[in-house]
Amino acid sequence: MKAQEVLKTHSDLKYQYNNDIANVFEEYLKTDYRRAAKDLFVAAVGDVAGQRVLELSCGTGPIARGLKQAYPSASIVGSDISSGMLAKAKEIEAAEPLGIQYLVGDVMTQGAVGGGNYDVVVAHCLFCYAKDKTELRNMAQTCYDNLRSGGRLVLAVNNDVWTRTSIMQPYRAGVSIFQAPISGHDPVDTQEGEQCKVNVKLPDGQTETSWHYHWEEQTCLQMLESVGFFQAKLEPFSLEIVPPSQRFDPGYTSFVDFPFSTILRARKPE
Ligand SMILES: C[S@@+](CC[C@H](N)C(=O)[O-])C[C@H]1O[C@@H](n2cnc3c(N)ncnc32)[C@H](O)[C@@H]1O
Repeated sequence: MKAQEVLKTHSDLKYQYNNDIANVFEEYLKTDYRRAAKDLFVAAVGDVAGQRVLELSCGTGPIARGLKQAYPSASIVGSDISSGMLAKAKEIEAAEPLGIQYLVGDVMTQGAVGGGNYDVVVAHCLFCYAKDKTELRNMAQTCYDNLRSGGRLVLAVNNDVWTRTSIMQPYRAGVSIFQAPISGHDPVDTQEGEQCKVNVKLPDGQTETSWHYHWEEQTCLQMLESVGFFQAKLEPFSLEIVPPSQRFDPGYTSFVDFPFSTILRARKPE
């Protein structure tokens, strides 16, 4: 299949969320498919009770909120380059205070965030905004630098199968996703480092458009090892990570059937 529309390039992906996308993104988060992505990632992070947690590229804060709601004794800091996304996160925090702290910062350059030394660092959809391997390495380094010795990292990285499957992904719990490399060639031939465009059409017709770079899951894993992480492993999303009573949630099954990301775990040596 060939791309059915002319795909425009986006020049600086790390700033793409600095516009009015935050409100549309919040609507996307309410769909069963995206809610499931969030809930299953929170479940994958697991027990953070009493721990200091940093979320990089937190956007409007759904993961931070999910973790804090599940583990109220955790201390959570969310950081993102987009003041627009953080303004929405803070608006939600003001309306329903959970005690999450939000800070603006570029993962590529920010070093230790709020003092660093976290027990757990998480990032849901971050590595896909690195335009080359130098930026990918900088992101991995920031994850490393923010952890205490023995701390753990949990990422969700774009899934190779999802990226290469098709231009028009079938409806997933009311959401249709059009995705293709901007070069216009068949998604099945998506190359490492290529820029791709994604249009997410919501049930009410609104569309969220974003661009990312394609990095193989193995490349992301190797990048973590190259900055000093150990026990790095990829883990597919599965219903096993939620209690049996929740496994019939239609959003969860639609996401696990065709997830856009894979869990990547690693540890910082003691
Ligand atoms: C797809 S959104 C995901 C937000 C959130 N993690 C979630 O799952 O809802 C990607 C986020 O990554 C942020 N981002 C991209 N490049 C970044 C960078 N270099 N430093 C910090 N944040 C970045 C964007 O501003 C955006 O909020």
